[in-house]
Amino acid sequence: MVKKFKNFNNVEDFRRLAKRRLPFPVFHYIDGAADDEVTLQRNTEAFNNCDLVPNVLRGVENIDLSTTIFGKKMNLPFFLSPTALQRIFHYEGELAVGKAAEDFNIFFGISSLSTVSAKRISNLSAPKIFQLYFHKDKALTKNMIDECKERKFDALALTVDTITGGNRERDLRTGFTSPPKFTLSSFFSYAFSPYWTLNYLFREKFDLPFLSNYVGEGTKQAISIGDYFSTMLDQNMSWKDAENIRKYWNGPFCLKGIMSVEDAKMAVKIGASAIMISNHGGRQLDGARAPFDQLKEILDSVGGEIEVICDGGIRRGTHMLKALSLGANACSGGRLYLYSLAAGGYHAVKRCVGNLKNELERNMKLMGCKKIKDLNRKNIKFRNV
Ligand code: LAC
Repeated sequence: MVKKFKNFNNVEDFRRLAKRRLPFPVFHYIDGAADDEVTLQRNTEAFNNCDLVPNVLRGVENIDLSTTIFGKKMNLPFFLSPTALQRIFHYEGELAVGKAAEDFNIFFGISSLSTVSAKRISNLSAPKIFQLYFHKDKALTKNMIDECKERKFDALALTVDTITGGNRERDLRTGFTSPPKFTLSSFFSYAFSPYWTLNYLFREKFDLPFLSNYVGEGTKQAISIGDYFSTMLDQNMSWKDAENIRKYWNGPFCLKGIMSVEDAKMAVKIGASAIMISNHGGRQLDGARAPFDQLKEILDSVGGEIEVICDGGIRRGTHMLKALSLGANACSGGRLYLYSLAAGGYHAVKRCVGNLKNELERNMKLMGCKKIKDLNRKNIKFRNV
């Protein structure tokens, strides 16, 4: 297995293999986004509106890529954002991602829609973040936070950009649901994806342990993710609720899905420790601006008062160097590692993160920077577009 990923040098290589291996409804759930997917494309393209400006003759044999985020030191300046339903993508699911994060000592996240319990996650030594969805069912929401306290999660991220379901037209076409439904139109795709289908049918049964004692939707009852958001989450969630959750959690607290300067300031005001500049991978509001495009003005306004994480569209180490040069405290991504998880579980995720680490190390040297803090705005120049 390990050998097999030798020729996988970038995120796109894993994407291609995932596309071959997964039944199309599952692949398109990961790969797809809202409406015309303009934001999805833009999230990555945004990094190409500027260029890196390297320095030379800086004695760069030893590179330190470490950074501190949510009060924890990570060996790399990026982490694996929480994403849902991972055992649908590969039977090893969240445990594979957590093990790879452990190998590199970086944060990884699990979602309220995790397919592995907090207890099993807590055995991994990698720093952990829990992604909270604010449900209408307040007992469920409270229980998830309590569980994360008990299992000693390092940070809590409240998702603020899923107040209703995004219009994911690929999912509408393929009929993707949680748990997956074997519809007539997709039947052959499952039949012709034996690697996935045999694992899905004969390995550990699908479950969403944070939810299954409270709601049937998503586990006993198949539902699309768009409908899950629209019907199960509390659309009246407010800044007051976010502040109350922050107080109740009483630890490193992040708002995931902040895009405006105004909201970044509000995040500081309610005492959040971090914000993830994110548009949910373009899966919610199509036409939303790219996180990287918003980064500079957000940093200019709240940088130094709150940790700012650039999440979305990142596919290369050089994308991260651009965000870090602007002043981001760290970067993160979902699809960034999900294609590798889907393509081959733990070994593939490890290879994928290793590729990004090598890219960062190599390009830091080429930039003339020895540590993350050496990167600054003189290292980046925007084109006049
Ligand atoms: C998504 C969620 C579950 O599909 O994060 O976007």
